[in-house]
Amino acid sequence: MTFDRNLMLSDVRAGLAAHPRQLPSKYFYDERGSQLFDEITRLPEYYPTRVERALLQHRAPAIIAIAQPATLIELGAGSSDKTRLLLDEMLRSRRSGATYIPVDVSADFLTNSVAQLRTEYPALATHPVVADFLAHFALPEHPSPALHAFLGSTIGNFTPEPATELVSSVRERMTIGDFFLLGVDLRKDPLLIERAYNDSRGVTAEFNRNILNVINNGLGSDFDTSMFDHNAVYNTDEHRIEMRLISRATQDVHIPDIGDITFVPGDAILTELSYKYDLDAATTLLTRSGLRLEEWFADDAGMFALALATR
Ligand code: SAH
Ligand code: AVI
Repeated sequence: MTFDRNLMLSDVRAGLAAHPRQLPSKYFYDERGSQLFDEITRLPEYYPTRVERALLQHRAPAIIAIAQPATLIELGAGSSDKTRLLLDEMLRSRRSGATYIPVDVSADFLTNSVAQLRTEYPALATHPVVADFLAHFALPEHPSPALHAFLGSTIGNFTPEPATELVSSVRERMTIGDFFLLGVDLRKDPLLIERAYNDSRGVTAEFNRNILNVINNGLGSDFDTSMFDHNAVYNTDEHRIEMRLISRATQDVHIPDIGDITFVPGDAILTELSYKYDLDAATTLLTRSGLRLEEWFADDAGMFALALATR
């Protein structure tokens, strides 16, 4: 992805001047970052993708029967792998084909996913949109009604206020008859959650460090990724994973147009939050965003849930 340099510069300048130091998690996702996330979804420890896929396998017929979408609009679509379960059901239930609009900031990865989808689904009109879903972006014309999907618990990567703004912006795009499908990771044994973010093969650590490669490529900085340790802990009070990169030594990092930044051993950069929800927290988010919860589909073990909502 060629991220906008000026925006990256102002994001990095503000993030590294803040206390604690932080970087926006969208910068994980250049092509390598998207590949690493894809690898994470196949790790034994990373249960969210597996459980959400099983939920979709079970519930896609009900979701499509309720929403009857002609168009599926998906924010942060990534590989669109689980989405195929919804697309299969849409195409089965409609005689006249269907439209799919995947939206993602990871341009190269999206292009490859869409090329594969077009081969697999000739009856599907696929119109990818490369955009930052936090900013204003235009959607192509599409048939109604639409199902707006935000899967994978990506909403968890936002603190309550930006999460509400994001869902509110979806609501503003929704017309009568449209539905919103939200995937949320649920609160559970903190050990299980922490294991999902500290896998034994170190893929999550590599994903975490990749944010520094993306900043180096975008800004010409000289972060040495091997000088930062991966750290992910569950904050039980805030119900969220906090993922950080911790400096292993005293080091200076040069960032053109920003300057030199000194890190001492133990200095941290917050790279990601991953909030875990329950029915109450999801209902609050939807209600504050102007939506009404229609259906709550959770697995029997209470690991993950899909919330279906309308205006
Ligand atoms: N929906 C997929 C992928 C989840 S990973 C799944 O459930 O497996 C999060 C996805 O959101 C990535 O593909 C990433 O590129 C995308 N993403 C993250 N921040 C984004 C932003 N601000 N705007 C658009 N896409 C974003
Ligand atoms: C994309 N997002 C929902 C993932 C998560 O679980 O918060 C990103 C991730 N970070 C570490 N592992 C996976």
